[in-house]
Amino acid sequence: MTNSTPIAGRIVNSYWVLAALLILGLLSGCGNRFEEQLRGTHQQVKTNIDHLKTQLDNKQLTNALLIKKYRRDRCVHFAVFAVTIFEDEGSDNMIFESHAHYDDEQFGSDREAILKKVRDSGVGCIINAASSMNSSRISLELAKSHEIIYTSVGVHPHDVQDMKESDLEILLAMTAFDKVVAIGEIGLDYYYDTAPREIQKLWFREQIKLAVDLDLPVIIHSREAAQDTFDILHEGNAHSVGGVIHCFSGSVEMAKRYVDLGYYLGIGGVVTFKNAKKITQVVEVIPLDRLLIETDAPYLAPVPYRGKRNDSSHLAEVIAKIAEIKGITPEEVEKVTWENGQRLFRL
Ligand code: NI
Repeated sequence: MTNSTPIAGRIVNSYWVLAALLILGLLSGCGNRFEEQLRGTHQQVKTNIDHLKTQLDNKQLTNALLIKKYRRDRCVHFAVFAVTIFEDEGSDNMIFESHAHYDDEQFGSDREAILKKVRDSGVGCIINAASSMNSSRISLELAKSHEIIYTSVGVHPHDVQDMKESDLEILLAMTAFDKVVAIGEIGLDYYYDTAPREIQKLWFREQIKLAVDLDLPVIIHSREAAQDTFDILHEGNAHSVGGVIHCFSGSVEMAKRYVDLGYYLGIGGVVTFKNAKKITQVVEVIPLDRLLIETDAPYLAPVPYRGKRNDSSHLAEVIAKIAEIKGITPEEVEKVTWENGQRLFRL
């Protein structure tokens, strides 16, 4: 906390300076000189912040402190961003949430408040993964009413039991809206087996076909069905449109096979669990440019929120853990996974 007061002071001061410059610029009518002065002020603030960041980087930090430092840096980033809005080519790291379910009824009473908290935490883009026909409809409405939300449409293996041919036409019609960026989440779940396996496979194939016809990437759910999932994706030529294996839980070998075909792997809260050996190995081995970060909110909250309702503001824990495993900075994880999300969903 000791470092935040001088920064806050400088930022507040810089706003006064900017306001004064704005008035001076308007009075004198010299646009170019005003712009130069503005940039000078911005540079000054940025230099101060960079200096502080170097001081932080030079300290020997334990893992526990790493998360703390990361959160503090995010505040610093926000300060830079606040000043950067005056500059043409301003850029700032933001978090790409590749898989959440804000249509879920668990968010029924406080959805807007949670989404505000999520935005304030640095999340700049959310892919809301639909899971049923009704969830696809609600997701679409969420994407329409929230700038940072994009959506998929599709039916999860838990909900395919009652799926009809005409549902495919409805899904197709939904994709006409330009914030529908994927088909999902679709796949196979042999752990719950909510629907008979043959029914799961049938609608998985049909929805892959829809994605390929529409040239949209797929969001894949696969639980205890690794080989069948891989085979059906392969037969359906799904790698031609790309996709993400959400909440990847397979072996390093399976991860490599997917990555070789151009898929991304979704890494979420599970990576922070104590016994997450398999996924830790996968994160170690697979290049960062093939990983996406996700919460699966409201499910699968990372440590230390395990068991509670999850939301995308907890992605900081996932980012910190991936950074720790790979021996890189959280900022690097944030930056590359942002680029990965933009690339896969063609935003
Ligand atoms: Ni999900």
